[in-house]
Parts: sequence; structure tokens; C-alpha cells
Amino acid sequence: MKIEIVGGGPAGLYFAVLMKRLDPAHRITVRERNRPEDTFGWGVVFSDETLSGFAEADPESHRAITARFAYWSDIDVFFRGERIRSTGHGFCGIARREFLRILQERASELGVDLRFETEVDPALLPEADLVLAADGANSRVRDHRAERFRPGVDWRRCKFTWLGTDRRLDAFTFIFRESPHGLFQVHAYPFDERTSTFIVECREETWRAAGLEGASEADTVAYLEALFREDLAGHRLLTNRSIWRTFPTVKNATWRDGNVALIGDAAHTAHFSIGSGTKLAMEDAIALRDAFRHHPDDVPAALSAYEAERMPVVGRFQSAAQTSLEWFENAGRHAKALDPLTFAFSLMTRSKRITYDNLAARDPELVRRVTEHFAASNPHREAKAPTPAYAPAVTTPARAAAAPPLFQPFRLRDLALANRLVVSPMCQYSCEDGAPDDWHLVHLGGRAVGGAGLVIAESTHVARDARISPGCAGLYADAHVAGWKRVVDFAHAHTRAAVGIQLAHAGRKGSCGLPWLDEGPLPKGAWPTIAPSALPYAPDWPVPRAMDRADMDRVVAEFVRAAGRAQEAGFDLVELHMAHGYLLGTFLSPLANVRTDEYGGAIGNRLRFPLEVLRAVRAEWPAEKPLSVRISATDWREGGLDSADRIAAARAFKAAGCDVVDVSAGQTVSDQAPVYGRMYLVPFSEEIRHEAGVPTMTVGNIQDADQCNTILAAGRADLCVLARPHLADPYFMLHAAARYGFDEQYWPPQYWPARPRR
Ligand SMILES: Cc1cc2nc3c(=O)[nH]c(=O)nc-3n(C[C@H](O)[C@H](O)[C@H](O)COP(=O)(O)OP(=O)(O)OC[C@H]3O[C@@H](n4cnc5c(N)ncnc54)[C@H](O)[C@@H]3O)c2cc1C
Ligand SMILES: Cc1cc2nc3c(=O)[nH]c(=O)nc-3n(C[C@H](O)[C@H](O)[C@H](O)COP(=O)(O)O)c2cc1C
Repeated sequence: MKIEIVGGGPAGLYFAVLMKRLDPAHRITVRERNRPEDTFGWGVVFSDETLSGFAEADPESHRAITARFAYWSDIDVFFRGERIRSTGHGFCGIARREFLRILQERASELGVDLRFETEVDPALLPEADLVLAADGANSRVRDHRAERFRPGVDWRRCKFTWLGTDRRLDAFTFIFRESPHGLFQVHAYPFDERTSTFIVECREETWRAAGLEGASEADTVAYLEALFREDLAGHRLLTNRSIWRTFPTVKNATWRDGNVALIGDAAHTAHFSIGSGTKLAMEDAIALRDAFRHHPDDVPAALSAYEAERMPVVGRFQSAAQTSLEWFENAGRHAKALDPLTFAFSLMTRSKRITYDNLAARDPELVRRVTEHFAASNPHREAKAPTPAYAPAVTTPARAAAAPPLFQPFRLRDLALANRLVVSPMCQYSCEDGAPDDWHLVHLGGRAVGGAGLVIAESTHVARDARISPGCAGLYADAHVAGWKRVVDFAHAHTRAAVGIQLAHAGRKGSCGLPWLDEGPLPKGAWPTIAPSALPYAPDWPVPRAMDRADMDRVVAEFVRAAGRAQEAGFDLVELHMAHGYLLGTFLSPLANVRTDEYGGAIGNRLRFPLEVLRAVRAEWPAEKPLSVRISATDWREGGLDSADRIAAARAFKAAGCDVVDVSAGQTVSDQAPVYGRMYLVPFSEEIRHEAGVPTMTVGNIQDADQCNTILAAGRADLCVLARPHLADPYFMLHAAARYGFDEQYWPPQYWPARPRR
């Protein structure tokens, strides 16, 4: 094959090496605009587990590279005068210049034609069987063929500059320093005996305010040497084309156009805070080589196999990198809200790849400190959820160590929760005219036996015409109280779980069939629906009536009466359902509320009616009992609820007597575009908790106790809410306690024979 490669970075050079190894008869040219010894930046870091594939792909370059590696295993976080060190990690670094030199030499040795100082014009690509665009994040080849590749370039909110220092660090070092203009952060790591990489990053507004826009390299160095004087300990910062840049997150709809293919940063970027860009570029090269191994004479087939193999893997990395990038973009927020140890734990677990358990395996001492710190700084550590009267007192041996965060108590007003686990409200669609029955007793009772601190009963409607479906639960008649009281009394008599109820009005999503029969609007027996505006949920759904003042008064009164009945039934907590596109949620969302009166428009107006309901319910609901509000923090659609809106809403709810915000998302509009992943709503909870200063519950694909501990220890939420995992395993908490050896977990005496013994 004749192969033309545009760009002599890691992707282009490594692919050239691998293809020559595969078949020395391939004629390969690499055209690079720079001279061989030119490169931007300083050292490149890899986490050590990333390297195994390279030994197999080309042992020669692997040997040469690893011989030059600097190795270290610690991470240092410098924050507010403290250094928090975590050990047991494992990184290696190498000077980028050295790294490229090794690949250049290896390519030459194998007979690759390397042409430096050769700029390729993307309009005049050389003739070849394969043209590989390895021309980096600002790929001109990609942009020239944008119609086919359909690139998306997301320019992020921080500015960064890639510097070096002659201070030899002995750890991956993160430094956070406040300047008069905002927070600056450093990502620094050693890469040879004398030098370390020193990347400085800050929010764009901080960079501007500090006068760094248009600063020369010398000005930048002078400013940063002064700011980081203590950290540099008399050493210098070094430049190498160290201009301030903005990180572009690059994605493409496809990586191939005929015989032209994208590779490395031209195809995708991953933020440098997870140190994977070079590794991804090299793994692309391996995958593309493998594709040609399987399809030696068929370029389209090989490129298609390459894309199918790599795109999903790269997508997962990009999503971890995105979470990490956003953590750094919001470092100022974390810095304001968190103490140094929690801040460091939050930093280390930011991309979700390192968790509480995972870190405990690497660095048990640090996780012990984090756990003890969490327990000791828990303002509710003395809160004691009542134990059923008939259960014998259990004396467990005094614990040598603090229990993990999930098992720590919490208090909301006078309500003591035994732990941080919550069973999420889940519609059961199993009521006759709103009345709960045996199903609810067994369903909710079973979850209460399972050990969660709080069980929240499903969306329970405040009027018959406020229901989602004919099977939905209600508290709109006095007759409903007895059925609920039976559930609550059972939980109180036999478990330590507190029981909450979610009060709701379905709004424009009401009058639907049972989801397992015929989801969507009822074909027969439908009732009229109401909403802030006469906008249907989906184009083919019934148009609701826009509410007038009389409707509002009626709905407020219905919520108040339902709250009174919830009190009669003995519930411990009331949650107002302001999420998922139901009535109160639609008032909050600009996509569903287009009113022109004082209930529509800016968030202050959109909050007006939900707050009327909240205040009225708060006045009815006993002062000693807590109230929560569930919101959809985002509508997952352009033009929907934004960050400022949700923070304003959380602040207003708190001021009106809401004790905890239950942070959910979506379902407001039928054409939403959610971004799922594990723990995918935690960043919203974290934002609200830190910015509005209100306790939060977080929900959404939290799969296990390890993830709960990670979220709680990092200060991202106060309570973890699990829905589907509890359907599959009512005894989630009993299993979690067994796994963590938490002996104080309450087991009903009837079940003691199954209790783990140690
Ligand atoms: C601040 C920072 C720190 C980073 N730290 C790390 C790290 O620690 N670890 C890690 O793994 N990754 C890191 N990366 C990412 C890493 O640098 C890239 O992911 C990696 O270099 C991608 O390799 P590439 O070959 O695709 O592109 P590049 O390395 O960008 O190479 C592209 C090459 O193409 C050449 N070129 C472009 N256009 C033309 C043209 N028209 N004609 C001829 N030549 C052209 C360029 O001169 C360049 O040499 C970091 C990135 C940044 C910005
Ligand atoms: C069967 C079922 C019913 C649900 N009903 C409700 C509900 O009544 N009220 C509510 O706020 N959310 C409801 N949800 C959403 C869950 O409470 C939760 O927010 C969502 O499932 C994400 O959490 P998970 O990933 O732990 O399941 C329901 C979810 C399921 C699976």
C-alpha cells in the first residue's frame, strides 16, 4: 500500500511504525510541518496500566520509551495551605520531545519516509491508497472535509498554558491558589530527572481579570512565578511556545471519507486532566493496524472496522474526560464549599473511574482518614432513628473504625434517619381510585425491612383528575388515609425506616393508560388536563387548559388537604413532586411555561406558583417534620431550565422551608436528549448543594454501595436515592452492610438467622 500521513505527532508516527512492521513493502510517507526537534509542551504522562498494549504492538519502541520513563505513584493535592498525599497509584512520564524522537528514529529505521517542514494543503492531499489525517486537534484536513466528517468542536471555559519547571516533583501534583481575580490550578508532574510539566489553568474570566489576555510568554511567567512562588520553592517556570489556549473537545460523526481517515486528536480529544490523549492516539494506531491486518486489500472495509472498533471505546474515555474537565472548570465552586480532605477526595474521584472502594485498595490509609473525617464532621452523628419497640437491644462490639458514609445517620428537622440510603418514589399503578392496598404494604414494607433510612412512597396525587393514570395512588379522599397508615405503621413497628410520601399533580401528563398496557393518553375515559400553558406534552397528546387563578387556588387547596391526610397517616416526610414534566415541574420549565402573566417569564415568575404550593403545604405540615422537593434540574433540551434557574429555584425552596432538594432530571418534554451514564445526575446535585447551600439527595443510575460512598464522601450529596436497584433487591442495604462489615445495621429479629456473623 501507498500510505500518506499528514502530521508527525504520536498518532501519525506510531501508525507508520506499526504498518511498516506489518508489511515492510508498504510505502509510507509522514509529512510534518515542524522540524523534528520542535514540539509544543513538555512531558507526557501515562497511568501505568495503560501501557501493556504497546509492548506487544512494537516491543522496540516500547523498550526505548519505558527506558526513559520517570515513574511515581503518589498524587499530591495542595489546597488552602494543606498537602493531601495519596499513594498507590502508578504513573510514568516522558518528555514529549524525547517521546517523538524515539518514534521518529524507529520510523526511519523501518524505512518510513519522514518529511519535516512540509505543510500539507488539505485541498491538495497527496495521491495514495490511504491518506491518514494525523494532524492534531486543529486538523485542517478534517475541517476541509467538514461536510463529511461533521466535526463538533466544543470550546471550553478555561484557559490553560503548558509550561515546564526545573523543580523535580515526586508526585502528580495539583495545586490550587486563589488570586485576587479567582482560582488558578496547576496540573504538574515529573518527566525526567530535572524537569516537570507545569500546566496552569483558570476560568477564562479569571484569566481576563488577571490581565493575561495578550500577555507575552515573559509576562505570563512573571505573573505565575509570583502566584506560585511557594510551590516553586525558588525554581523557575520554563516556556516552550507556552501560549494561553482554550481546550477544544473534538468529536466527529465519522472518521472516514473515502480513503481519508482521521486518527488521534484530529478525530477526538480528551481533556489533559485524565492524561489520555497520547495513549488514545496510539491505541487508534494499533486498532487501525489491526483493521488492515484483517482487511489487507480493502481500504473501505478496514476503515469501517477501525471506526466500529474504536468509536465506542473513545466515547467512553471522552465521557470520563468530560466529567474531569467539568470538575476543573468548577474547581472554584468546590473550593468554596469543601474542606481540604473532602476537596482532595472529590478531585481524585472526579471522573468516576476511581471510587471509594477502588481508592481503598490503592491507599487504605487515605480512605480511613476520609471515612473518619466524614463521620466526625457529620453534624448529625448523634441522630438515632428509633428501633422497633419489640426488637431486643443488640450490643455490638464497639467499632474500631468509623462506618463508611452510607451508614452514617442524618437528620432533617426532628427526623433522624438511620443512614444515607433512600428508596426512590416509584409509581406502582396498582390502586383502585387512588387507594393503596396489599401491594403497597408489601412493596413499601419490604423495602423498609431492607434497611434504607428513608422509603418514599410513589407519586401520590392530590385530586382524582390530578392522577397520571387510573391506577395511580392518591390522598385526595379521607378514605385513602387508612391504606397509607397501614403501610406507615408497619414500617414504624417493624423497621427503622422513615416513610415519606411524594405529593403530585400530573398536569399535562395526566389522563394516561397504565404503562405496561398502553402508555400515552387514555383512548377512553380520559379527563381534561391543566397546565401553566396550553401546550401538549407531545404533538399528538391532548392540549391542556392553561390554568387561571381559580385553578391555582383549587390546586393549592388540594395539596394542603393531601398534606393534612399525609399527617393523619403518620408519614415522616412530604416530598413535593416538581419534576418530570408534571404540573409543578412544568411551571418551572421555560419549555412548558410560556405564560405572559406574573407566573411566566423569568425564573422568579416561573417559581411563583410552585412556591405558593410549597408555602401552603409547609404551613399545614408539622413544623418538626421535614419537607423535600424533587426537581428536574435540566430538561435535556436547548432552551430549557439552566444552571442559574435551578440554583435560584433551590435557594427559593430552601427559603420557603424545603429541607432537602431531591435532584432528578428530564421528562419535561417528549423530545428531550438525555445523556445517561452511571451516577449521571450527581453533578447537578453537587452544583445545587454547593451553590444553594441546601442538603441534596441525588438519584439516577447509582448502582451500588461503593458509588454511594464515593458520592457522599466527596460532598456531592447528603443522601443517595436508588429506584430500580431497589426493585431488583429490596434488601440492598442489608447486603451493603454485610459487604462492608457494618455490624450495627438493623435486621428485624425475625431475620436474624440470615444475619452475617463475624
Ligand atoms: C496541555 C496539554 C497537556 C497534555 N498532556 C498529556 C499527557 O500528559 N498525556 C497524554 O497522553 N496526552 C496529553 N496531551 C494530549 C496529547 O498531546 C495529544 O492527545 C496527542 O499529542 C495527540 O497526538 P496526535 O498525533 O493526534 O496529534 P498532535 O500531537 O497534535 O500531532 C499533530 C501533528 O500534526 C502536525 N500538523 C498539523 N497540521 C499539519 C499540516 N497541515 N501539515 C503537516 N503537519 C501538520 C503538527 O505540527 C503536529 O506535529 C496533552 C495535551 C495538552 C494540550
Ligand atoms: C417503576 C418506576 C416508577 C417511578 N415512579 C416515580 C414516581 O412516582 N415519582 C418520581 O419522582 N420518580 C419516579 N420514578 C423515577 C425514579 O424515582 C428515579 O428517579 C429513576 O428511576 C432514576 O433512578 P434509578 O436509576 O435508581 O432507577 C420511577 C421510576 C421507576 C423505575
